[in-house]
Amino acid sequence: MNKKNVKAGIVGAGFAASFHFEAIRKVYATDVELVGVFCRTEQTRKAFAEKRGIKAFDSLEALLDEVDLIHVCTPAVTHEPIAVEALKRDKYAIVEKPLTGYFGDGSDDFNGDTFPKVKALDHALASIRCILDAEKNSKAKILYAENWVYAPSIQKEREIIEKTDAQILWIHGEEAHSGSHATTYAYWKFSGGGVMLGKGCHPLAAALYLKQVEGKARDGRAIRPVAVSARTHALTRLPSFRDEGHIRADYHDIDDFSIMHVIFEDGTIADIFASDILLGGIHNWLEVAANNHRSICNINPNTAMQTYNPVDANFKDIYIVEKTGTKQGWSTPSPDEDWFTGYPQEIEAFYRTVAYGEPVQSDLSLAADCISTIYSAYVSAEKNGTEVAVRVF
Ligand SMILES: NC(=O)c1ccc[n+]([C@@H]2O[C@H](COP(=O)([O-])OP(=O)(O)OC[C@H]3O[C@@H](n4cnc5c(N)ncnc54)[C@H](O)[C@@H]3O)[C@@H](O)[C@H]2O)c1
Repeated sequence: MNKKNVKAGIVGAGFAASFHFEAIRKVYATDVELVGVFCRTEQTRKAFAEKRGIKAFDSLEALLDEVDLIHVCTPAVTHEPIAVEALKRDKYAIVEKPLTGYFGDGSDDFNGDTFPKVKALDHALASIRCILDAEKNSKAKILYAENWVYAPSIQKEREIIEKTDAQILWIHGEEAHSGSHATTYAYWKFSGGGVMLGKGCHPLAAALYLKQVEGKARDGRAIRPVAVSARTHALTRLPSFRDEGHIRADYHDIDDFSIMHVIFEDGTIADIFASDILLGGIHNWLEVAANNHRSICNINPNTAMQTYNPVDANFKDIYIVEKTGTKQGWSTPSPDEDWFTGYPQEIEAFYRTVAYGEPVQSDLSLAADCISTIYSAYVSAEKNGTEVAVRVF
């Protein structure tokens, strides 16, 4: 079979842009012509482009003119306008998580602790509607970069559900570590929420995806969320928190611990934890309790490799696993962290969609359900866990 050529561009030149670039290099189903990069800072885009031998573009529009597809690797506040601009020109947009959100009222002193959360929900729903409308009027699609959907353990669970007609009764999952690195993450006005959004979106999307898979396998229709109850906490901001320097503790107005209890339309449930207070390296896992099997999908850590190192300094030049605090003693080095995390698989799948029209596993409907559930969860948390209906489109 002749491979089709896909012309691609990257928007953003930071952390996510770098791992997207690495994943693009591994695409094998299509020929990829990486045309260039655009980000709003001239110096950054030039440095990113030079290091990788690609062109730096001066505007989003100029980049869009030359590609079939863009990778939207910019802060979430910019996702909606950039994705809509791409869709208007019938260009596909791979959009990083979270799809969209509410980033305050524009005031410098906006306070994420005290504003009425229904405002965030209304705004997020309007933003979802805007992206959905743009996709409906476009020949292209949103490809939602939720790597958990493409992580090998989640895809193996998809196969089990599809082939055994499993009924999922309860999903239990978590993303946690000791704190995100970006300084802006501490502020709701930059991040659109706290850990419930930033990290909770990953295991939540995987749970929503697996219930979609179950419904589609049984009667061709996704099983969607209908209600959520949630609690959020700011444990590192408690006056009684005793900071010993292991956990990031400079959050301004966001949550660092959250739990969402999600109810699906068939009455089954999911419990999703997210936190920024966990030592020992990143902890990303999802457990599925079904009527005919039980699976524990370990994304990170997993025991593909276990190493004992008696002297921390011996491993100073060796990457072990994301957010590990020490390399001394027993550890679980990830032999290919990107692969276990699903990054190359997701990018490969998206290029197959663009080139050959293959169906999208992580699509706009999944992204929309995820955002709708999370901002409904913030409304619930404001009411100390009262159940709130989830609006699906
Ligand atoms: N899937 C994952 O595991 C994962 C991991 C990290 C980040 N992310 C997501 O990726 C996105 C980017 O995060 P990051 O960590 O790379 O941030 P970053 O701060 O490292 O990089 C952001 C880049 O976007 C550029 N930018 C900002 N506003 C822009 C605009 N209006 N137009 C063009 N460029 C603009 C900046 O100049 C910068 O180059 C976020 O949505 C984040 O949640 C996902």
